[in-house]
Amino acid sequence: MRVITQHSLGGPEVLTVEDAPEPRPLPTEVLVRVAAIGLNPLEARLRAGEMPLLGGPPFVLGWDVSGVVEAAPGTWRWRPGDEVFGMPLFPRPARAYAELVAAPALHLVRRPAALSHVEAAALPVVGLTAWQGLVDLAGVSAGDRVLVHGGGGGVGHVAIQIAKAFGAHVVTTASGSKREFVEGLGADEVIDHREVDFTTAVRDVDVVLDTLGGRTVWRSLAVLRPGGHLVTMTSEDDAGLGAAAAAAGLRFSGIAVDPDPVGLRGLVELVERGALRVHVDRVFPFEQVVEAHRALEAGHLRGKLVLTV
Ligand SMILES: NC(=O)c1ccc[n+]([C@@H]2O[C@H](COP(=O)([O-])OP(=O)(O)OC[C@H]3O[C@@H](n4cnc5c(N)ncnc54)[C@H](OP(=O)(O)O)[C@@H]3O)[C@@H](O)[C@H]2O)c1
Repeated sequence: MRVITQHSLGGPEVLTVEDAPEPRPLPTEVLVRVAAIGLNPLEARLRAGEMPLLGGPPFVLGWDVSGVVEAAPGTWRWRPGDEVFGMPLFPRPARAYAELVAAPALHLVRRPAALSHVEAAALPVVGLTAWQGLVDLAGVSAGDRVLVHGGGGGVGHVAIQIAKAFGAHVVTTASGSKREFVEGLGADEVIDHREVDFTTAVRDVDVVLDTLGGRTVWRSLAVLRPGGHLVTMTSEDDAGLGAAAAAAGLRFSGIAVDPDPVGLRGLVELVERGALRVHVDRVFPFEQVVEAHRALEAGHLRGKLVLTV
């Protein structure tokens, strides 16, 4: 089978398509023939060597996949031909930039007809991150005021829709060119982060979902109501933020997303009742992964980037 691998750390050009042995599923795992692969900013950082999660090269990046079960000799949960998607094994290596992936049966769910393979591959990492932050950790409910930072990006565009589906009033920060996009997803108020300081434009927030870190996450403490909850996914200084939040009478959580099938099924339910759609900014063929990673690094995306196999 073909995989996308790298033999050194560096820019997008280190990624190459090569032949590799097919993975062998263990008992409790399935072999999935991959149709589409979702890309995430983390993968650009791993490729460049900014994080040591996968050790030294050579390695194969990738977690978000949608495809068809090729073989399921060691599990009763799936049969060949089943359409599945998920983010198996995260954050251990899943080697998903590949034609075939071996995945724990429980890390996959059935692909709904309402999602193409491309859309399904775009959903797991960003969808589960938003779900775990807003639903599992913050327990967002009707009438809550929720601030989603980076509402036009991968996590943000799904988070807006989840918060709306649970009845929240959603404020989001996004660049002005994405105003119509985020309003179309249901955002009630949009703050153009290039023009307006969000701390002057919103207050009494119940939950902040931070996708940005840096100054933004620290300054977000100021817009929460007493007892409000700051949830971040940037893991820069969770201990410091937690202490500052506690001193101010606020709650704080840092997320490391995990491949929870219950959350994935929650996302599927929202898709099936028309409350959640996945926006794919651009699709690249497998062989054009270098161009895809250039686009990933350039940022300012509207939703997601996906590779097709
Ligand atoms: N901890 C975890 O488990 C976990 C899981 C998933 C993701 N993450 C991390 O979460 C971050 C977001 O991921 P993603 O997939 O959503 O990335 P993304 O698709 O690149 O989205 C980031 C968004 O932020 C916007 N943005 C940039 N500067 C901004 C500012 N000052 N104010 C408001 N918006 C701003 C960008 O759009 P414009 O520049 O056009 O405004 C872009 O739409 C990444 O660092 C990722 O690695 C962590």
